Amino acid sequence: MKTILSVNKVTKQYRSNELILKEVSLEIEEGSFTVIIGPSGSGKSTLLNIMSGLQKPSRGSVFFGDSDITRFNEHELADFRRLDIGQIFQQYLLLSHLTAEENIRLGVPGSGGAFSVQELAELLDIADVLDQYPGQLSGGQQQRVAIARALIKKPRMLFCDEATGALDEKNSRKVISLLHQICAKYGVTVLFITHNNEIASTADRVITIKDGVVVKDIPHKNPIPVDQMSWD
Ligand SMILES: Nc1ncnc2c1ncn2[C@@H]1O[C@H](COP(=O)(O)OP(=O)(O)OP(=O)(O)O)[C@@H](O)[C@H]1O
Ligand SMILES: [Mg+2]
Repeated sequence: MKTILSVNKVTKQYRSNELILKEVSLEIEEGSFTVIIGPSGSGKSTLLNIMSGLQKPSRGSVFFGDSDITRFNEHELADFRRLDIGQIFQQYLLLSHLTAEENIRLGVPGSGGAFSVQELAELLDIADVLDQYPGQLSGGQQQRVAIARALIKKPRMLFCDEATGALDEKNSRKVISLLHQICAKYGVTVLFITHNNEIASTADRVITIKDGVVVKDIPHKNPIPVDQMSWD
């Protein structure tokens, strides 16, 4: 087992005295599909954003490989986020005046993308809508465009914050299934926040957070295949 990301005693406090994360430590295995689950307000998004370098912890460190990303300067942090990782959210955050293909190309780092748009579009079943604008696409198609934009650089790790939260069951299944395929086929490590226990059952590992503390951390030896998921 090779660790890709390690969180060491991370504490987060905003201006109020309340601690949002309390000395959280965990390691993520390279190539794994991990779910983070927990009640609203428990600190899931805060933890994910600290792991992806979008937010700074108040105390503690986050190592990606040998580098402590919490000590990166602005330039190093920008490179890390541009080249090494991808992030998707519940909102698709597509630019409405650009076509699907132009949106996907926004994810290409200066040195050129690792995937071709065509390859990803076929994998994600959006090849026939590449010249359409976000307003002409369904929610599921828009989220798959956002996934393509995050993946075109072939990131080592993909952070997903309730990425199926706005989708119906059919589209959610499709997105989860695609993320599993991308994890298995290309070795992209996936970290996925959800409230959905069925999605959690398909993961290699489920981390439960409550009140800023990891209260459960369960590896799944035999995760449920996506096509056998039941739904709430
Ligand atoms: N910028 C901020 N300033 C002050 N408090 C914040 C800020 N961002 C988040 N919080 C607080 O931190 C706590 C954890 O928020 P977080 O968004 O991490 O929760 P979550 O587990 O992702 O919840 P949800 O499931 O609803 O998305 C909440 O009480 C929230 O109000
Ligand atoms: Mg959240």
